[in-house]
Amino acid sequence: MIINENYTKLPGSYLFSDIAKKVNEFKSSHPEANIIRLGIGDVTKPLPPAVIEAMHKAVDEMGDASTFRGYGPEQGYDFLVNAIVENDYKIRGLDITADEVFVSDGSKSDTGNIGDILGLDNVVAITDPVYPVYVDTNAMAGRAGDLLANGKWSKLVYIPCTDENNFIPDLPKEKVDIIYLCYPNNPTGTTLTKAQLKVWVDYAAAHKALILFDSAYEAFITESDVPHSIYEIEGAKEVAIEFRSFSKTAGFTGTRCAYTVVPKALTGYTKSGEKVSLNKLWNRRHTTKFNGVPYIIQRAAEACYSEEGKKQVKATIDYYLNNAKIIREALCAQGLNVYGGVNSPYIWVKTPKGMTSWNFFDYLLNELNIVGTPGVGFGPSGEGYLRLTAFGTLENTKEAVERLKKIS
Ligand SMILES: Cc1ncc(COP(=O)(O)O)c(C=O)c1O
Repeated sequence: MIINENYTKLPGSYLFSDIAKKVNEFKSSHPEANIIRLGIGDVTKPLPPAVIEAMHKAVDEMGDASTFRGYGPEQGYDFLVNAIVENDYKIRGLDITADEVFVSDGSKSDTGNIGDILGLDNVVAITDPVYPVYVDTNAMAGRAGDLLANGKWSKLVYIPCTDENNFIPDLPKEKVDIIYLCYPNNPTGTTLTKAQLKVWVDYAAAHKALILFDSAYEAFITESDVPHSIYEIEGAKEVAIEFRSFSKTAGFTGTRCAYTVVPKALTGYTKSGEKVSLNKLWNRRHTTKFNGVPYIIQRAAEACYSEEGKKQVKATIDYYLNNAKIIREALCAQGLNVYGGVNSPYIWVKTPKGMTSWNFFDYLLNELNIVGTPGVGFGPSGEGYLRLTAFGTLENTKEAVERLKKIS
């Protein structure tokens, strides 16, 4: 038996374990310190009451022979798929049909698994810094080449997003076939306007490329010129797959529910140039390798779209956005360059005085007892930045902000 040797090229996943190690060391030498964690990428607020109520009801149904459900449709139950189509697309005038929606257990799985239906010779572009799953799953498949000393993979095309280009990715100079775009962005918290996203849709159309659009943070959009879906851009249905998740929207990080839209108008090509429907391929992959999200969880996700559910979801998002505003304003008041935090729970801050990401991390931990995430952990272009998140409590956020006033 021979293993998939691509796995041996992957570096260990050190970022969060390195952070934990540093925090634990600090704790043991300063047991009295009240450490505030603004590094977490997980939500802290519980599921909305409407969701819990729907889950309880679904649990009872599972205990009654007349309402019990076994295997469901792999693509998701009609009640949830229809609620998604109505509330996330129709309401915005977007014509996405039920058979273009695939309910799943998470956008991490979907953005990772989508490569199953894509050829290994495709040239893959990622924005840098980036959500690491895109990079690692391409490395596993063999599309990334080898990891170089500069922290880049030899075959990936890196598109830097820094303050130098105002976090707006430039089109690649070389032709690329697959482009991962994540907006609102993790980790930078920045967004693209409709006009800026159109540039990419047009590029994909002109180069027969595919856009993998991750909008896991769509619920945090507050500004009117920021598209909620890539399908708001003309021509996107021919070139883009969209990933959405209930994780950050409604607190489903531990409950697990997401969905992916693969339009029927979207085609890929065989080596001989024949057009093939990606919807058909993904349907085949999904129904073969996945057996559906639990009924109870799909009922829970459906409840996010009820009148009560919508209000409760919004209240939680507003709570996190208020934290983001507080952090953002405090850092700005200290004269730091701050990005994100307006349409996003992430605040991306440029380190002061040219510090490295890790130096600034150490300063915040040792002097202010605040934990952030070093930007360089998200890719080479993240060096010189640090990510803070708005997922903490309001009390902790306010306390952290008091301490941030001491940044010298
Ligand atoms: C950009 C991005 N995509 C996807 C995910 C994963 O979402 P899910 O919980 O649906 O797997 C995350 C989670 O942190 C994320 O930041």
